[in-house]
Amino acid sequence: MKVIEISESFGTDRLRLADRPEPEPGDGQLLLKMNAASLNYRDWLMVTGRYNPKQPLPLIPCSDGSGEVLECGGGVTGFAPRDRVLPIFAPRWIEGKPDREKLRTTLGGPLDGVLTRRMVVDADSVVRTPAHLDDVEAACLPCAAVTAWNALVVHGELAEGDRVLVQGSGGVSIFALQLARAMGAEVWAISSRDECLARMRELGAVDGVNYKTVPEWGREIRKRSGGVDLVVDVGGGATLPQSLAAVGLGGRICQVGNLGGGSVELNLIPLFMQQVRLQGLLVGDRCSFEALNDLIENKKLRPIVDRTFAWTEAGAALDYLAAGQQFGKVCLSIEE
Ligand SMILES: NC(=O)c1ccc[n+]([C@@H]2O[C@H](COP(=O)([O-])OP(=O)(O)OC[C@H]3O[C@@H](n4cnc5c(N)ncnc54)[C@H](OP(=O)(O)O)[C@@H]3O)[C@@H](O)[C@H]2O)c1
Repeated sequence: MKVIEISESFGTDRLRLADRPEPEPGDGQLLLKMNAASLNYRDWLMVTGRYNPKQPLPLIPCSDGSGEVLECGGGVTGFAPRDRVLPIFAPRWIEGKPDREKLRTTLGGPLDGVLTRRMVVDADSVVRTPAHLDDVEAACLPCAAVTAWNALVVHGELAEGDRVLVQGSGGVSIFALQLARAMGAEVWAISSRDECLARMRELGAVDGVNYKTVPEWGREIRKRSGGVDLVVDVGGGATLPQSLAAVGLGGRICQVGNLGGGSVELNLIPLFMQQVRLQGLLVGDRCSFEALNDLIENKKLRPIVDRTFAWTEAGAALDYLAAGQQFGKVCLSIEE
């Protein structure tokens, strides 16, 4: 079967179409035909060797894909050929608090990922695809949308009417905007691009601030909103001090990403004076994904796809993602 892999050295220009033996499903497993994938910033870090320079090669990259069941292994119940499914990001993390093993066994590194025409997965490590989504849209969900869900719901304890701040117009943030609006929250936004702020308002954001032209955007968001209840922070070092300035008394900051760097000097006084809770998180379990899909189905939400490349152009697609000019998700179609 054909796969896309990094084999000898890291780099987006090192991705190659390669042949691997046809996989067969064992007991409790499903053989999937993969139809589409979506890219996350993590995939770019992985392929360029920044995420884990010691990652053994060859590796089939990318964690997020959508497919359909071709064959069920022995003892599988509840699935049949042609069922549309999505492999979960951490295949052994089904429910509850993760342990190190569950967090270390994730698709697209260290485990082989979804850029493959055929994939064998444990039947308990997939969720059903929301029926109204096409394969490319559905492929957007496993990492970015589950992360946004966990930041908002599981750790952020979002309540109707809460004010939420989302940062930039990448995958996690646009999902956070859509999901927060669907749950009755008031969404505030920052972006480096005024045209993206306009699009975020069209998606339901009440207002936004350009973080390039207003470097003290945290104070500005606080002034306009009265202080937000929850920040989904994807900028990391570049944004955390300003996130702290934007949040109101008793607010929460869910620290998700490091797009603007992984370290920062932070004035801790507002943290305790404002009784702010700072929470890091890593994607989420299968149960979170199922709860997310219930909301997506009920509200008929559709992921925002910026652009879809052919899977043989995965390197160019990853470079496009890393350039940060997208609005929403960058995807790949996996042709037969
Ligand atoms: N913890 C987890 O489980 C988890 C899961 C998924 C992702 N992540 C992390 O979350 C971050 C976002 O991932 P993603 O896949 O959504 O990324 P992405 O799609 O590549 O997001 C790119 C966008 O982020 C915005 N951005 C870039 N630098 C920024 C900064 N300094 N401040 C504010 N916004 C900035 C830009 O938006 P504008 O052009 O509008 O400014 C850019 O277009 C990454 O660091 C990723 O590794 C973590």
